[in-house]
Order: sequence, then C-alpha cells, then structure tokens
Amino acid sequence: MLTHQRLGIIGAGNMGEALLRGVLHGGLMGADRILVSAKTPERLADLNQRLKVRTTQSNLTVAEFADIVILGIKPQTMNDILTEIRPVLTQNHLLVSIAAGITTQHIEQMCGVDVPVIRVMPNTPALVGEGASAYCRGRFATAEHALATHAILDVVGIAVETTEDRMNPVTAVSGTGPAYIFYTLEAMIQAAQDLGLDPDMARLLVKQTVLGAARLVMDSGEEPDVLRARVTSKGGTTQAAIEYLESHGYKKLVQDAILAACRRADALNRGGS
Ligand SMILES: NC(=O)c1ccc[n+]([C@@H]2O[C@H](COP(=O)([O-])OP(=O)(O)OC[C@H]3O[C@@H](n4cnc5c(N)ncnc54)[C@H](OP(=O)(O)O)[C@@H]3O)[C@@H](O)[C@H]2O)c1
Repeated sequence: MLTHQRLGIIGAGNMGEALLRGVLHGGLMGADRILVSAKTPERLADLNQRLKVRTTQSNLTVAEFADIVILGIKPQTMNDILTEIRPVLTQNHLLVSIAAGITTQHIEQMCGVDVPVIRVMPNTPALVGEGASAYCRGRFATAEHALATHAILDVVGIAVETTEDRMNPVTAVSGTGPAYIFYTLEAMIQAAQDLGLDPDMARLLVKQTVLGAARLVMDSGEEPDVLRARVTSKGGTTQAAIEYLESHGYKKLVQDAILAACRRADALNRGGS
C-alpha cells in the first residue's frame, strides 16, 4: 500500500498537518515523496523546519507532483483551488477532500475530467492519533482508491467507508461529536467546583474520568449500557444521578442535538448560510 505513490497536501493547516504527521510517523511514505502547500510562507517554513517536508506556495506544482492530493483547505476556498489545479488534473490522480459539506459530485464537476474523488469527514482527535473518520467514494473512485485513503486515515485513528448520503449524519455524530464531549466536561468540571473541589483537581479528575471511560468502553468490548448497568447498584449514587438524567429527558436531548447538527449540515449542503 502506498509503495510508489506521491502525496500532495494542498492546505496543510491543522487537519492537513495531522494527516501529514500520521503518514510520516506511521511510515506510510518518506518525506521525499511528499509535497505540501499552504497560503503563507511562514506556515510553509514552519512545516519544512519541523517535519522536513518540501513545500511550495504553488498548488499547481503540488497537483503536478502528486498522485494523491489531499485537499485540506477550507470549504470556501475549494472552488478557487480546483480552478487553479484543474489544468493539470488527470484520471490518474486521486483527490481526497476533507472539506466539510462539499460533495464529490461538486468536486468532479469543477475538475472537468473523470478524476477519482474521495470525500472524508475527519474529526479533531486526529490531531492526537485518535480520530474517527468516515469517507465516501465519488463516481470515478475505485476500491483501490478507497484502500489508499483508508491507509492514510488509519494512521490518525480509525476509518470507515460509507455512502455520500450518510456524510451529514456522520458530520453530526463524529465530526461534531468531540464538542459534545467537551461541553459535558465543562458541566462536570463546574459541578465539581460547585461541590467544593479546587479547580485544578476538578479539571484533572473529570478529564481522566472521561479518558478512562472511553478507554474502558473501547478495550473491554462491552457496550456502554452494559458498563453503565454494572456500576449502577440499587439505591446507590450512580442510580440517583441516572434517574435524575432520565427524568429530565437527557437521552432525548442528546439525540435532538445530534439531529439539529444533521439538519444544519443538510441546510449548508443546499447552499444555506
Ligand atoms: N477542524 C475540524 O474539526 C474539522 C473537522 C472535519 C473537517 N474539517 C475540514 O478540514 C479542512 C481544514 O480545516 P482546518 O481546521 O485544518 O483549517 P486550517 O488550519 O485553517 O487549514 C487550512 C489551510 O489552508 C491553507 N490555505 C488557505 N488558502 C490557501 C490557498 N489559496 N492555497 C493553499 N493553501 C491555502 C492555509 O494556509 P496558511 O496556514 O498559510 O494560512 C491553512 O494551512 C476544512 O475544510 C474543514 O471543513 C475540519
């Protein structure tokens, strides 16, 4: 896998760098087969110095150099960049877009050739190698293109293939998901302080509790409801808390919040603002 391809990253920002670091540190390919672009010379100098990759301000040069081109730019920059690189794109390229809300069909139409496109929805834990990404294939992307994309995403977490009509639900669940957890952490830290714990201790206990719970659910192979039942003894403290959450519709609230995020993604895809 990826034994001979050359990789380009157009828009090596937070997400682009996370993928770049994953590829380099995961040993998928050496820096000599990678070329990255960003907008500012400062950013490029920084990447060159820290990660020893070659950089350029020319997106066209990246597209000419690479077989696989990761589009790590913001959605609003996508059309300009595609117009810029369009003259050198061929059917032999693979475009991997991580831009939220931009369909494979849109990218294909902008390119003017039958270029294979894969659309990815990553999430920010990819920055620490714990991402959850989902991707879908465009009209011209093959199973081999999907495998190459999977290999790149796999080094920064886990990756699953899905269909384009599922990308908005994925956005609402895993793309936006880390923020729901951060919000819950905020509430738990506040509650701990309200109960008299000092702020540093409150933050440490809550963060480690969430990390530990996540690790337990992943490592034990048990479903969340089983793990919850196991720590909920009759008449105990957990039961008191869960009963309170249930009587205030907590589960429904979380479900409705995710639905709201999905509806927003639908609206943005239809060109809403
Ligand atoms: N962050 C998330 O949680 C998340 C989750 C899922 C998907 N995404 C998607 O990931 C993409 C990148 O997000 P991000 O958070 O990594 O953004 P970011 O840090 O702002 O990265 C964007 C990069 O694009 C570069 N850029 C801007 N204009 C350019 C141009 N004309 N040519 C080449 N490069 C250009 C910027 O260069 P400079 O650094 O020099 O300005 C920057 O490095 C977005 O499309 C977003 O929808 C993000």
